[in-house]
Amino acid sequence: MKDTALRVADFKDSIFGVISRLAREHQAVNLGQGFPDFDGPDWLKEVAYKKMQEGHNQYAPFHGTQNLRQEISHYYKNFYALNYDPETEVTVTVGATEAIYLVITGLINPGDEVVVLEPFYDSYVASIKMAGGIPVPVTMHAPDFTIDLKELEAAITPRTKLLILNNPHNPTGKVWDKSELMGVSQLVMKNDLYLLSDEVYEFLVFDGAKHIPTATLDGMRERTITVSSAGKTFGLTGWKIGWICANPSVTRACRLVHQYVTFAVSTPMQEAVAEGLKRLPDYLPGFVELYKGKRDQFYGELKKLGFEFSIPKGTYFMMVPISKHTSLNDVDFAMKLIKEYKVATVPPSAFYLKSTEGEKFLRFCFAKKDETIKSAVQNLNRL
Ligand SMILES: Cc1ncc(COP(=O)(O)O)c(C=O)c1O
Repeated sequence: MKDTALRVADFKDSIFGVISRLAREHQAVNLGQGFPDFDGPDWLKEVAYKKMQEGHNQYAPFHGTQNLRQEISHYYKNFYALNYDPETEVTVTVGATEAIYLVITGLINPGDEVVVLEPFYDSYVASIKMAGGIPVPVTMHAPDFTIDLKELEAAITPRTKLLILNNPHNPTGKVWDKSELMGVSQLVMKNDLYLLSDEVYEFLVFDGAKHIPTATLDGMRERTITVSSAGKTFGLTGWKIGWICANPSVTRACRLVHQYVTFAVSTPMQEAVAEGLKRLPDYLPGFVELYKGKRDQFYGELKKLGFEFSIPKGTYFMMVPISKHTSLNDVDFAMKLIKEYKVATVPPSAFYLKSTEGEKFLRFCFAKKDETIKSAVQNLNRL
């Protein structure tokens, strides 16, 4: 390992890559991969092609095209009554993943502590470690994946600088309600922390649940660094257009990193996403309906198979309890499902640092074509 720098030497291959490779090897239906196996809207792809033909093909301004930053600012105002100055408070990134990296690298010094709520999206901990920071896990307890505020308070020390919250939440599908968000926010304010709010699934909420951006809570606008991405909203995860909305001083810190990591983000795709955001009000109802249909169909099938859990209100994931079907832990059961039942899922213990609660679940992604879901259910029927 002499070629590998210490800061990444203990990293493992991401669980997603491992599962996808096994799924291919065993010809399993892949409900592990966290993205749609179908394409996003044709009209948006046509806009992208038009933008290329119109000559939007050279480097964009490093912090994002003016058009896109303006449209991001518009939608935060129109949907959430949040005002962000496109010049000093909005930065376009290569997906939310780069955004998360920039926030952490721009703010965290070696030895700083960052509270992560587990189960977490795996890039948080990797970015914290690359910055020399210390991830401090606090568990969202099953079955409702709630935070015990006393545990959270106990995890905060004078070295804590940042707390990361994901809402709507991958992998559980939880949509945080206002009182829960306020509980966390009050601790953030009391301890003078920043809160990185990963809201990439902001528009994937069902059954009348409402997405509440953390920045809208009293006192939280200046402390919240909101990250989102067009990938989930338009079902085009490969476009990798994300953004950060934050106060000017945090924005400047993020941009200092961004200018040397990616410098600028794909110009025609930014221009296309700007057009997509403009059309959000027309686009969203059909989008939510599509995923709600898939959620309902898959949830109904899992219930028939004897899996018992509450229907998730957001994202395209389900965190499904397995103990009624097996005494194996998540990793072993996931392997068994791939090899013997030809269905790939993600064992969520990879998203925990402290608790073993994840061993009792599997994460299923239902952003799949009807035929993919049908084949998976057929295979699972043999359970
Ligand atoms: C919670 C969460 N944050 C961030 C990302 C990364 O988003 P992007 O593809 O825009 O980098 C994902 C992708 O699955 C996610 O689930």
